[in-house]
Amino acid sequence: MKQSIVLYKKIPSDLLQRLEDNFDVRFFDGINETNRAEVLAAIKNADGMIGASVPVRAELLDHAPKLKAISTISVGYDQFDVGDLTQRKIVLMHTPTVLTETTADTVFTLILMTARRALEMAEMVKAGKWTRSIGSDSYGVDVHHKTIGILGMGRIGAALARRAHAGFGMNVLYWNDRPNTQVEKEFNARRCELDELLAQSDFVCITLPYSEQTHKLINAERLAKMKSSAILINGARGKIVDQAALIEALKNGTIRAAGLDVFEVEPLPANSELLQLPDVVALPHIGSATEETRYNMAACAVDNLITALTGEVTENSVNAHLLK
Ligand code: DGY
Repeated sequence: MKQSIVLYKKIPSDLLQRLEDNFDVRFFDGINETNRAEVLAAIKNADGMIGASVPVRAELLDHAPKLKAISTISVGYDQFDVGDLTQRKIVLMHTPTVLTETTADTVFTLILMTARRALEMAEMVKAGKWTRSIGSDSYGVDVHHKTIGILGMGRIGAALARRAHAGFGMNVLYWNDRPNTQVEKEFNARRCELDELLAQSDFVCITLPYSEQTHKLINAERLAKMKSSAILINGARGKIVDQAALIEALKNGTIRAAGLDVFEVEPLPANSELLQLPDVVALPHIGSATEETRYNMAACAVDNLITALTGEVTENSVNAHLLK
């Protein structure tokens, strides 16, 4: 008899077929108040779950006594309590490699959009307000040969450092719990203390995972340590930045601008004060959202679940090493 799984995100049909070849699949288009009772009934018999963008915590897991594996279609796993999953002997799989380059592209998009005021200028043209050559009050600032400070030096941080160094001749600083000798050698990156990075960088880019340690890491005090000409870019998780403090810092001119793909609450409420500020570029969490990368993430997650339920896990697991 096939094992049962719950799929809680739409995936391409060939990948669904691959799941169905291996498992009995119950599909739900997300997990919400409307389908919650049905989901709870389905996970009662589920050996595995696969999906994304929904918190999967004790209140759900308590209804899933047979669950052995969860495969998230994301690199981030802040939707899960890894300690709790490990105690329940549930292996958590994720997609750490396939989205690296695309997410670094998104971060660089935000750097260019904020520095060159590309959104503001494009909106001005679209509104039919380009009536004469632009004046100095519309100028942006250079990106090339400036200093980029990268918080976190994992895969995405390193892909960003490569773009900054090789493409834009930038000076690269980074803050990370351990040295990354490869980026130091290849991109001339220099590891430094957070305060030094904040004080020297023209672009402060967050590529850290969200955790208790990184919760509101960028607060009022740290924003005050940045140059008034500096730009903050967050392509990681919204809760790493104290959003209220960021709004104040932008209003007071403590920093120049912010490029944000992630927010404390997502979707960002339409009445958020952030959206009133001209120096903010806000994207709807599109870090990995290209056709190719989202397909590759779903394919990786499908393979991860098949391996976790039928084979031996050797990669892409968050907690398999703790379960041995
Ligand atoms: C990830 O994979 O973690 C991206 O942020 C999408 O959620």
